Amino acid sequence: MTLDDVDQVMAIESLVYTQPWSARGYRHELTHNDLAHYQVLTVSQPPGPERLIGYIGYWLVLDESHISTVVIHPEWRGHGLGELLLLSALQEAIAQGAAVATLEVRRSNLVAQLLYQKYGFEVVGERPRYYHDNHEDALIMTLSPLDESVQAALRQNWESLRSRLQLVRLPGPASVE
Ligand SMILES: CC(C)(COP(=O)(O)OP(=O)(O)OC[C@H]1O[C@@H](n2cnc3c(N)ncnc32)[C@H](O)[C@@H]1OP(=O)(O)O)[C@@H](O)C(=O)NCCC(=O)NCCS
Repeated sequence: MTLDDVDQVMAIESLVYTQPWSARGYRHELTHNDLAHYQVLTVSQPPGPERLIGYIGYWLVLDESHISTVVIHPEWRGHGLGELLLLSALQEAIAQGAAVATLEVRRSNLVAQLLYQKYGFEVVGERPRYYHDNHEDALIMTLSPLDESVQAALRQNWESLRSRLQLVRLPGPASVE
């Protein structure tokens, strides 16, 4: 993610969340937070411009990667793209030295929990009334250790997901970057 992406990120953020992060917050993350790492997923739909359809972020603190956000545009869900982003971020974090991945997820967000569980994340705790908007609890989910067996599984899933994405009929004449 670069500063040029922030407008498109904000368009999705506002669509998905009642209390979105601010553009200022994203710009600050990109320019002032050395621990923060953000990736975007774009599609090319010639002759139109490249379009941003998802993003993921994590903070790398010592050997712990804390996934701060992962979002796919509602029109593009259910094709394996959220999984692709999660895989990509985990692989980058491991390459940077992460030994643990952790995150918070709303208790009611079963879709996201299933995605994380698919990758071996387990619930290790909870933060009662963590979210300000509706005082919902957060579940803390962790994948640890990010050892060689996890890395091998990630590589294998990456290959099979890439092959699957070649076959999937994505919305419009698109190719995923
Ligand atoms: C969570 C999110 C990123 C998933 O993205 P996606 O591209 O739709 O998910 P994928 O197609 O990659 O699905 C990967 C896995 O997630 C789970 N999943 C995805 N959609 C699901 C659904 N509708 N019902 C149940 N499980 C679902 C499944 O485990 C799925 O694996 P499978 O295909 O083998 O069944 C997306 O729903 C989103 O942007 N949600 C809003 C933002 C959000 O809640 N982010 C997480 C904050 S913690």
